[in-house]
Amino acid sequence: MSPASFPALRLRRTRSAAWSRALVAEHALTPADLIWPLFIAEGEGAEEPISTLPGVSRWSVDRLGERAREARALGIPCVALFPNTPPALRSDDAREALNPDNLICRAVRAVKDAAPDLGVLTDVALDPYTAHGHDGLTDETGDVRNDVTVEILARQALVQAEAGADIVAPSDMMDGRVGAIRSALEQEGHVNVQIMAYAAKYASAFYGPFRDAVGSRGLLKGDKKSYQMDPANAAEALREVALDLAEGADTVMVKPGLPYLDIVRRVKERFDVPVFTYQVSGEYAMIEAAAAAGAGDRDALLLETLMAFKRAGCSGVLTYHAPVAARLLGG
Ligand code: PBG
Repeated sequence: MSPASFPALRLRRTRSAAWSRALVAEHALTPADLIWPLFIAEGEGAEEPISTLPGVSRWSVDRLGERAREARALGIPCVALFPNTPPALRSDDAREALNPDNLICRAVRAVKDAAPDLGVLTDVALDPYTAHGHDGLTDETGDVRNDVTVEILARQALVQAEAGADIVAPSDMMDGRVGAIRSALEQEGHVNVQIMAYAAKYASAFYGPFRDAVGSRGLLKGDKKSYQMDPANAAEALREVALDLAEGADTVMVKPGLPYLDIVRRVKERFDVPVFTYQVSGEYAMIEAAAAAGAGDRDALLLETLMAFKRAGCSGVLTYHAPVAARLLGG
């Protein structure tokens, strides 16, 4: 029997009214799909706008509670915290990363105080703490050293877990770091702290505004191509994900977002684990710039991209637009 075809079948029929489109929608987007990344700065009562991320600011720790309550009220389940470490505390050995009273640890405690049931994700990587802006320690040639970095990352993750982080998210792309972090957490009794691995993180031109936000753009020597992935590769992303899952990652992330939807889809199909994507700073800036130039409606552009992540197979999305999107979605 051959399948029905035109005119017996008219695919426009189910699209012809809003109620019908709502009934047949294959995917849904809600505020519960969003993770809101927040930048933190030293100071009091401070809000520092970031020029390359219009509409996004760094907040001082005393103002984070407001953001945390805003997230809760909007139905956003989790925030991700990123510190802008004062330059004087950045060093070649990144020792500030291990200070239990550093900016990120104070920020975690502030969020937990204000909204105890809001999830808190922290980034595990050394770039906010190194004098050269790399995610790990370097040797005399400037090469990023893997194994010594992994030891520090495991300790960094512990410091964050002790401050109250619910999810630690290694974004450094060193080999073996997920396993090292998992055993450190287990040893110290943090058995329920999740690891969201930045499993397939590409060496991308879309991270520029983020580096402004955390103050590493001007410091960065060279590029990150010896540890972040080549945009030419897809099969390699699957190997990265397989390793991170074997080492104990609870969830995995693909980053950036929109340019790598094919990777999201392949990871979801192959592993069937919760996959997240990070709609990164350059993607945010692109949407804002397009809207400012009159090329499209900001809200519509935003919601269409977020739905694309859901359709590709994401469980959730890290996006600076989280509060805007949550409001649009009725949160
Ligand atoms: C650092 C880190 C980066 C981002 C998240 N964690 C930048 C980088 O790797 O240089 C990028 C996020 C964004 O651009 O929004 N380990």
